[in-house]
Amino acid sequence: MNAVDFFCGGGGMTRGLLNAGIHVQFGLDINPACQHTYEYNNGIPYLCRDISSITPEELTRDYPVLLNNGDLLLVGCAPCQPFSKQRRSDHEHISTNLLDDFGRFVRALEPVCVLIENVPGIQNRGHVVFERFLTLLDEMHYHTFYTVVNAQNYGVPQKRKRLVLIAAQDFFPDEPPVTHGGGLLPYMTVRDAIERFPAIEAGGTNEAFLNHSASSLSDINLRRIEATPHDGGGRLDWPPELVLACHNHGHNGHTDVYGRMSWDSVSPTLTSKCFSLSNGRFGHPEQNRAISLREAAALQSFDDDYQFFGSTQEIGRQIGNAVPVLLAQRIGEYILAHHQQN
Ligand SMILES: C[S@@+](CC[C@H](N)C(=O)[O-])C[C@H]1O[C@@H](n2cnc3c(N)ncnc32)[C@H](O)[C@@H]1O
Repeated sequence: MNAVDFFCGGGGMTRGLLNAGIHVQFGLDINPACQHTYEYNNGIPYLCRDISSITPEELTRDYPVLLNNGDLLLVGCAPCQPFSKQRRSDHEHISTNLLDDFGRFVRALEPVCVLIENVPGIQNRGHVVFERFLTLLDEMHYHTFYTVVNAQNYGVPQKRKRLVLIAAQDFFPDEPPVTHGGGLLPYMTVRDAIERFPAIEAGGTNEAFLNHSASSLSDINLRRIEATPHDGGGRLDWPPELVLACHNHGHNGHTDVYGRMSWDSVSPTLTSKCFSLSNGRFGHPEQNRAISLREAAALQSFDDDYQFFGSTQEIGRQIGNAVPVLLAQRIGEYILAHHQQN
């Protein structure tokens, strides 16, 4: 089975599909900062393009293999921020058009299978864009299934709820079988994923592992993480002189920020700021720093030899935005198995 990965970013979805045995032909993404990471690790082309500026004819001219639509999977993980809980305000605009644009390719190429991944909020009532996409699939007589999955149930050491939609012409899709939790294999934990990495300090790097670099901390933030109990502690344990002014005046939300992860739990959901202590529970369980980029990648189930290129901010985005590799692989295996049965 061949695939095209629209909105491919640094390649989490692509890597998982390749691991499953699906021949991803190329990825397409507007952000030039992801190209090196994507191509270096996956050995396939990255079309650095705005999806809204490209036509299906252009793609099939350069990739005639896409015309064999009986063997084609189209994947589209449009940016999720406009739908996510943190950014309710600017709801619709960007993703509206991007999912519509992806739909343009589905309509023209008529792939045998379609896969999208997005934040659960995309299905909320009133999301006309998602409704429109479902209508398109219906008009094209796809069998469509979507649900919210949690990556931890597929062996990813992270709680990460995402909507997964599979539409197929040649089988009736269902939820890819879960492997972990509830009487199955035990959940993978933070310890399983990152205990093996050598200790480093805030601002430090250990070159024995690729991208094993941690962000530096200001003096006050260093004192704060030192005052945070190991293994799951948070800012509520700080002495008064370390408390932030905005947390002092009845603002008790965001108790996770500046917190440490717990060794024997699944990690919280990583974001594009997962290298930063002040942006979530991204503190190392016992070292006085935020998790390194390598540790973040491991919590997203990237292998240790997957190398990320770019600034810390760019790499954080590549890692935090990715579909966890293992989740993508399990979905890919599911699609491949059912497609091949036909
Ligand atoms: C959620 S991330 C995708 C993550 C990726 N699927 C992975 O598994 O690593 C969404 C991506 O959409 C890209 N994007 C945003 N607007 C775009 C556009 N107009 N055309 C193509 N790509 C776009 C962003 O650069 C970003 O990399």
